[in-house]
Amino acid sequence: MGWEYKITVQDTGNSFYCAEDEAVIRAMFRTGSGPLKNGCCGGGCGICRMKIVKGDWRAFKPMSAAHVSEADVKQGVALLCCVQPQSDMVIAGL
Ligand code: FES
Repeated sequence: MGWEYKITVQDTGNSFYCAEDEAVIRAMFRTGSGPLKNGCCGGGCGICRMKIVKGDWRAFKPMSAAHVSEADVKQGVALLCCVQPQSDMVIAGL
């Protein structure tokens, strides 16, 4: 079994655990920890666009440039369905 990391939602203070090989959005849905309730989980709809305030992560699949520009990525904005944690993380709504 791999590592699990704590993901904290800055806006609500809720937190949940996400495996290192699990998309953050999947763990959010699985635990009902919101604020997002649904989405395509395929990198296409943009619903899961949030800011990663703190922590290390990796994009395990491409993020749609229509929803996240290179400038966004530099600011920590990402599609959470394309992101797996590499440390504890803090995320925030946009
Ligand atoms: S859930 Fe649709 S782009 Fe992430």
